[in-house]
Amino acid sequence: MSPVLGEYLYLVAVVLFIVGLKRMSSPKTARSGNQMAAVGMLIAVVVTLLDQRIVGYTTIVAGLVVGAAVGAVLARRVEMTAMPQLVALFNGLGGGASALVALIEVHAGAADVRTGVTAAASILIGTVTLTGSLVAFAKLQELVSGAPITYPGQKVGDSLLAVGMVAASVMMIASGGVPAWAWAATAFAAVLGITRVLPIGGADMPVVISFLNSLSGLAAAAAGFVIDSNALIVSGALVGAAGLILTMIMVKAMNRTLGNVLFGAFGGAQEGAYGVDSGRTARRATPEDVAISLAYARSVVVVPGYGLAVAQAQHALKELENELTKRGVEVRYAIHPVAGRMPGHMNVLLAEADVDYDKLFDLEEINRDFPHTDVALVVGANDVVNPLARDDPASPIAGMPILDVDKAKTVVVIKRSLSPGFAGIDNPLFYLDNTLMLFDDARKGLTQIVDAMKDV
Ligand code: TAP
Repeated sequence: MSPVLGEYLYLVAVVLFIVGLKRMSSPKTARSGNQMAAVGMLIAVVVTLLDQRIVGYTTIVAGLVVGAAVGAVLARRVEMTAMPQLVALFNGLGGGASALVALIEVHAGAADVRTGVTAAASILIGTVTLTGSLVAFAKLQELVSGAPITYPGQKVGDSLLAVGMVAASVMMIASGGVPAWAWAATAFAAVLGITRVLPIGGADMPVVISFLNSLSGLAAAAAGFVIDSNALIVSGALVGAAGLILTMIMVKAMNRTLGNVLFGAFGGAQEGAYGVDSGRTARRATPEDVAISLAYARSVVVVPGYGLAVAQAQHALKELENELTKRGVEVRYAIHPVAGRMPGHMNVLLAEADVDYDKLFDLEEINRDFPHTDVALVVGANDVVNPLARDDPASPIAGMPILDVDKAKTVVVIKRSLSPGFAGIDNPLFYLDNTLMLFDDARKGLTQIVDAMKDV
């Protein structure tokens, strides 16, 4: 293939990435956006593989077979709730691959300053992304504690590692690409990735993963400069920008700053005033009680949360919606931007059960309607409906925007116990006079409500 044709095809791939990304901004067009981006990636991969200067076909085919097999098995087996861990692994491998590309170029003689600087950037960012993502994976998979792991002298230690990493990179560039310096920088970066992510609590891990995703894009873009690949530069920059935008959306929805997430050691189990208070009593309801409340309501707003995903209760929820709609009850869904464990988690679940997109409302749109809502039905959600965030400036989640379900005439909460959510703090919503608690698995509870409704 002529180099010019190759560049044109890369351009087509990049355009498909950009248009695909744009289409992912709405649930209606997200699937076709994903397909477009996948076609773009196929074009980029095929064009790259046709360029026989890189490696022999045996290596390419072996890589494709192993990579595709591992990827296909992982993607099919992973639970929706474990998606953040999978993304963490993908990011880590992406960062590691970029660092390896740069290390290979250094070994091949990356002598000039421009290549040295970009190789150093790719090595540092890629390696921090690799080891940081592995720690994030281990925390989410509960292989290590999700609580912040801190130790004395951490900040000084991290600063020394950062200085060592930069100094080794400068030596690598100044020495015209001596590989030993590149490996020294890699070693410092690898340790820094671990020590920087260990003190971050599990509750902040999705934000960290998104940030590492952004870094993996930057590492890829830097690797693109090293090997003069326009396609890699543009796609890396797209990942970098998209990851950063997503990070900022999440940080804003939790009323935090990126600095506070990365350096705040937030998210362990809470003690004292905000720990779980077993002294108060909550009003326990049966599925029959809930069926009656719902059947006689005019308007119901459903608030799905992480527990809906754990219980895989989306189809049972849709059945309940159908049953209520048949009776003339208006049913809408309130989607908090960080409900669940990853951006768009709830939208994906509800789409799986064929819930109409037009019935989904964002926080800003739906909050003003809660005072006129007969029943707010909270299914496996906790932190995103915790009034402490709104009412108590001293609460650990103070300022996080919440769905004001407590303002509805009746609140029904389906969850298995009074246990706290991700942030580890008690929720006064459960003890309000207008709240009914149905203690059950979300799927079982919803199915029983639907059954009970047939007798109402
Ligand atoms: P959480 O506050 O984590 O609460 C989920 C609740 O689901 C738990 O209290 C749990 O109570 C219940 N649950 C678990 N399994 C269940 C089952 N099988 N059936 C019924 N209920 C079940 O969830 P949320 O309200 O969706 O809030 C999300 C949290 O994640 C927030 O703190 C948010 O800041 C954090 N976070 C999210 C993101 C994104 S992007 N989504 C990013 C960063 C952080 P029981 O054990 O009593 O059942």
